[in-house]
Amino acid sequence: MEIRCFENNFHTSSMAKDLIFSVKTDLISFTMIYTLPPLPYASDALEPKMSQETIDYHYGKHLQTYIDNLNRLIAGTPFEDVPLETMILTASGPLFNNAAQVWNHTFFFNTLTPVPREMPPILKETLIRDFGSVDGFKEKFKKAALEIFGSGWAWLAADKKGRLHIIQESNAGNPIRAGYKPLMTMDVWEHAYYIDYRNRRAAFIDNCWELINWHKVADRMTEHIPVAEMTDLAGEKVVVTETVVVTTDEDDEKEDDLAETQTSQKIRNMEKYVCVICGYIYDPAEGDPEGGIAPGTPFEELPDDWTCPACGVGKEHFEKEK
Ligand SMILES: [Fe+2]
Repeated sequence: MEIRCFENNFHTSSMAKDLIFSVKTDLISFTMIYTLPPLPYASDALEPKMSQETIDYHYGKHLQTYIDNLNRLIAGTPFEDVPLETMILTASGPLFNNAAQVWNHTFFFNTLTPVPREMPPILKETLIRDFGSVDGFKEKFKKAALEIFGSGWAWLAADKKGRLHIIQESNAGNPIRAGYKPLMTMDVWEHAYYIDYRNRRAAFIDNCWELINWHKVADRMTEHIPVAEMTDLAGEKVVVTETVVVTTDEDDEKEDDLAETQTSQKIRNMEKYVCVICGYIYDPAEGDPEGGIAPGTPFEELPDDWTCPACGVGKEHFEKEK
């Protein structure tokens, strides 16, 4: 029997690899078995933000159930010997749900620490770059986490260009299916907070901030880890549509800026026309505000009764500026 103790802390060269500690205990059987990953702290270490009772249930019972289900589902299938990430990328139904829940919970528990330290400058600067400020990021993340209907996960993840995004996932969703590299997550299934906070998801999120291991998050961000390829076992592309990316205000502003730049460019490319009588030049970028013509109006779209604001002749006395 081979016991597989899974730890998805990304200290590997590939997103598609997990750390597997194997212990051969039976040379006759080679059945792969996932076991509960070790917690990086004592079960009461996160109190009072996260009680020992919550850890006992969430980690000790819920995660254990996902692991038991996973072992049962992969037994005797091609998934028995593939990395957990491959299951997340390629499986569906109960196998995907349990594989992803094992991965997500391991990642979540490894994101927490009883002794949080100050956020490393590189992470702080990147959050400021992509969300305006650290507080702005937390606010947007909390909003996204609260908006997840029913059970799910809120993620901070990096795209292939290193830009950070807040991602909402329902149920067992994981952003690697959409090509993102997860950096941090909060479990917003009710089983994560009902013992300590009853139905108050917002209070759970507020307290969770005090447990985040920002150094771990920064390490995940700065390590050069290729984002998982979205292909199935046969090499076909996997299409995933469940991921919802929450864009930042900065994204919206950038899109607005781009649209504005494109419009300005278009206007700049419009032809200017010269009045052959007086030399007045009609510039579409300026229009003719006094004559009721808005900036951005091409000469061709001027009303037929429009007249030269300088000498009063009609449009027929204008020609393209050379
Ligand atoms: Fe959970």
